[in-house]
Amino acid sequence: NKNVVILISGRGSNMQSIVNANIIGAKIVAVISNRPDAGGLAWAQERGIATAVLNHRDFDNREAFDAQLQQVIDAYQPDLVVLAGFMRILTANFCLHYQNRMLNIHPSLLPSFKGLHTHQAAIDAGCKLAGCTVHFVTPELDHGPIISQGAVPILPDDSADDLAARILTVEHQLYPQAVADFVTGRLSVQDGKVINAQPTDAQNKL
Ligand code: GAR
Repeated sequence: NKNVVILISGRGSNMQSIVNANIIGAKIVAVISNRPDAGGLAWAQERGIATAVLNHRDFDNREAFDAQLQQVIDAYQPDLVVLAGFMRILTANFCLHYQNRMLNIHPSLLPSFKGLHTHQAAIDAGCKLAGCTVHFVTPELDHGPIISQGAVPILPDDSADDLAARILTVEHQLYPQAVADFVTGRLSVQDGKVINAQPTDAQNKL
């Protein structure tokens, strides 16, 4: 089994989709939140998954927080770290420590709309399509090698919440598939390029 540590900051619906997928070869060894009130923590606890909280407000700076977070994560000996709505910018040292073994999901079609408020930004730009991106994490924010993307239409009267909900259903398909592909070894990254020996079912269906 490959050990998977999932980092969350909120409700954790992506974390739930990964846990619920019962991925063969993946053991979810811990769910870690930077926010004590993250809804996803209770959900994980109810399923017997180890949880931990590391409140970023208890630290003077990003470096100190990330160094401690790395210690907490590494105690679980992860083969893969999964950022699932983890709303902290991570230091370069932290990103490099988990190079080629840390995934993120971002609610836009990267490289468009990095950062926050992606749904409103896509609506404001007059885009007709929006979506989500699963990628390996590199020190540059929302910028690493792309594993998979899913697109949805932006409809004329969409609010940001409408669009977020439409994209979220796609997130819940793509993220478990990427984790499954990684733990089987089909998916990796070499020289900054994604190798996916067998393109994912979820990607092909879109
Ligand atoms: C998801 O839409 C995810 O793509 C996004 O936050 C939401 C978390 O929802 N992530 C980011 O914006 C990362 N910068 P969840 O807690 O229900 O998975």
